[in-house]
Amino acid sequence: MSDGTFSAATSPSATEPLALVTMPQRPLGARDVRIKVRAIGVNPVDWKMRSGGPLRFAHRFVGPSGPLVVGVDFAGDVVEAGSAADLKRGTRVVGATNFARKQLGSYATEVVVRDDQCAVLPDAVSYDVAACLPVPGATMLAALGSAGAPPAGSRVLVLGASGGVGLTALQISRALKLTAVGVCSSRNTAVVERFGATAVDYTKGDPLEAARAHGPYDLILHAVGSATYPLDRCRPLLSSRGVVVLVVVRAADVPSFTFSRRVAKVLGKPERTTLEPLVAWAASGALEPIIEARFPLAEAERAHQVSKTGKVVGKLLLVP
Ligand SMILES: NC(=O)c1ccc[n+]([C@@H]2O[C@H](COP(=O)([O-])OP(=O)(O)OC[C@H]3O[C@@H](n4cnc5c(N)ncnc54)[C@H](OP(=O)(O)O)[C@@H]3O)[C@@H](O)[C@H]2O)c1
Repeated sequence: MSDGTFSAATSPSATEPLALVTMPQRPLGARDVRIKVRAIGVNPVDWKMRSGGPLRFAHRFVGPSGPLVVGVDFAGDVVEAGSAADLKRGTRVVGATNFARKQLGSYATEVVVRDDQCAVLPDAVSYDVAACLPVPGATMLAALGSAGAPPAGSRVLVLGASGGVGLTALQISRALKLTAVGVCSSRNTAVVERFGATAVDYTKGDPLEAARAHGPYDLILHAVGSATYPLDRCRPLLSSRGVVVLVVVRAADVPSFTFSRRVAKVLGKPERTTLEPLVAWAASGALEPIIEARFPLAEAERAHQVSKTGKVVGKLLLVP
């Protein structure tokens, strides 16, 4: 065995279970940094990648060769830096891997990414908190961009308000002085309200009808899917400049976001420019992720089973 990373990886077969494997250490490019991973944020894409779908397809074409190492989000310490990298050994960072740059995923003891995929972590932000931020935060920031950066006072409706994306979106809304309404189930109304949003309980009547009373909305962040909350029921809740931003995209949505200016889709792609404001909000306490559970990396499968229930409140973490 070489001085490799110890990663949770799947075999090329999409249905293979996760397995811990030792892999050879990756060489560093000039702007790359090697990071000892301290915490990993679990996102649904991590298990979705294991069973096919467009991102897995893309990974096969443009990703690194060898087994699929899943995972995107991480926080840790720089242990080695390439000659042109702007991060020094010993720096605490948060970041996200990018398979389009031939990088392996973040379910590992060590990752190699480019310096501009990381932001420096102040001492005030723990590795656990930081690892919750990248994909959910980048997704909300991208959605706000799609909605034309709505000014303070604008109204935001979050469908799927209690999940990793939803709770992050509510807190970013609060930080930007946007007025947020979150659709969630009865058990999660308190957490939605804790972050300054109005909760709409989807178990009590028609949630879109109930949300209408708090609109119209300049952004509807759709983090559940149009099979549950159809787009033709969301669009009438928009203000004259409002946009429905799809976080979950179905094939049936393609005509809507292709032909309508009122519907967009996002892909949360964390990089330093998006990570820095998230870290600043976390340092000030404006972003305060809820961590439902932490699992050892070796129990990534268990974390995926929990995530697949679709019932997670906030985030799940893996710890190498
Ligand atoms: N496009 C992108 O870049 C991007 C980025 C991140 C995530 N995503 C996708 O977005 C989706 C959400 O991600 P996530 O990380 O937030 O997932 P998550 O944390 O697993 O979301 C779980 C939450 O969804 C809530 N929920 C389930 N059904 C609901 C419904 N009918 N109405 C309202 N809330 C409901 C659950 O609350 P209850 O138990 O109370 O129902 C639970 O708290 C996933 O499909 C993910 O793959 C896409």
